[in-house]
Amino acid sequence: MKILITGSAGFIGFHASQAFLRRGWEVFGIDNFCDYYSVQLKHDRETQLADSWGAAAADGTPARYAFREIDICDLEKLKAAFAETAPDVVLNLAAQPGVRYSITHPFVYQKTNLEGFLNILECCRHAEKMPKLVFASSSSVYGGNKKMPFEESDQVDTPVSLYAATKKANELMAHTYSHLYGMQTIGLRFFTVYGTWYRPDMALSLFADAMLHDRPIKVFNNGDMLRDFTYVDDIVNGIVRVVEAANLPRYDIFNIGNHRSEKLLDVIETLAQALGIKPKMEMLPMQAGDVYATYASIDKLHKAVGYEPTTTIREGIPVFASWYRSYHKL
Ligand SMILES: NC(=O)c1ccc[n+]([C@@H]2O[C@H](COP(=O)([O-])OP(=O)(O)OC[C@H]3O[C@@H](n4cnc5c(N)ncnc54)[C@H](O)[C@@H]3O)[C@@H](O)[C@H]2O)c1
Repeated sequence: MKILITGSAGFIGFHASQAFLRRGWEVFGIDNFCDYYSVQLKHDRETQLADSWGAAAADGTPARYAFREIDICDLEKLKAAFAETAPDVVLNLAAQPGVRYSITHPFVYQKTNLEGFLNILECCRHAEKMPKLVFASSSSVYGGNKKMPFEESDQVDTPVSLYAATKKANELMAHTYSHLYGMQTIGLRFFTVYGTWYRPDMALSLFADAMLHDRPIKVFNNGDMLRDFTYVDDIVNGIVRVVEAANLPRYDIFNIGNHRSEKLLDVIETLAQALGIKPKMEMLPMQAGDVYATYASIDKLHKAVGYEPTTTIREGIPVFASWYRSYHKL
């Protein structure tokens, strides 16, 4: 089976690519190495994949990993990649992420998350054999939802950032293509994913960087925030189950989180212990676009594919901390 993974040099894309390769899939990765954060980190992830899986085995078994540097906004190149691969499944993870960045850089979200996503839908629709499309949505679509935990049946019509609005738009666009063309499209609302090979723009990385450089960490809303932190291996396990499930409906949306809403100050304390550092904190007000709490109901995904996350922050954060120190040589 062949899977085309967009954003394969990204944090989740890298881990997902590895998981599918280990399970015997052929993986065709696409990424444009955009400079939203360290391009070196993206190249390092891609190099890991290429070194482990990009060459034929000694016994002559052909390589099962190929990569092309392509922007999903470039429809012609994307069409060519689809024609070359003829994937059974497309996993669309390429996106402009980040809630706060969408306040200052709105047009890149329009370009990648809307136009790029439309290109993915069009390529799937016109493929000789229509692939199953699994795509990244986000817990941010729940906006300021007060009802906990967040369920897929909750109203998600009041996003509080443009990033969230584009993710909700992806869910609507996918529904349209499923309805009109019979394509199978499954959206996964990820809840604050963390782990090794992590993004440097995310809170845990910013905290680790500040702690290791003896700077105060910026704590928004005076630390009064709750997040459902999900370890990347659990997320990837859920993605694999969804991709490989044969019994899912033509269109569906699932939460994929840890089902534990952690207090931000506990998360900071756990990270500080893992790094062996007493943190300095700078308490700041809530930032525009941020939400107070996230908390995933995961019953729907559990019932559909048996998804069951197992990693607590007490287990996952020390693994992240030791990767962070070793990768950044700190
Ligand atoms: N990490 C999280 O906590 C989280 C939470 C909710 C949703 N998501 C979503 O999951 C997906 C993966 O997130 P991630 O954390 O791995 O982010 P990431 O930024 O590490 O990965 C995204 C990858 O897509 C690539 N990309 C960006 N624009 C592109 C374009 N136009 N063409 C081709 N490639 C492009 C980037 O270079 C990057 O390598 C994204 O869709 C993101 O919105 C992530």
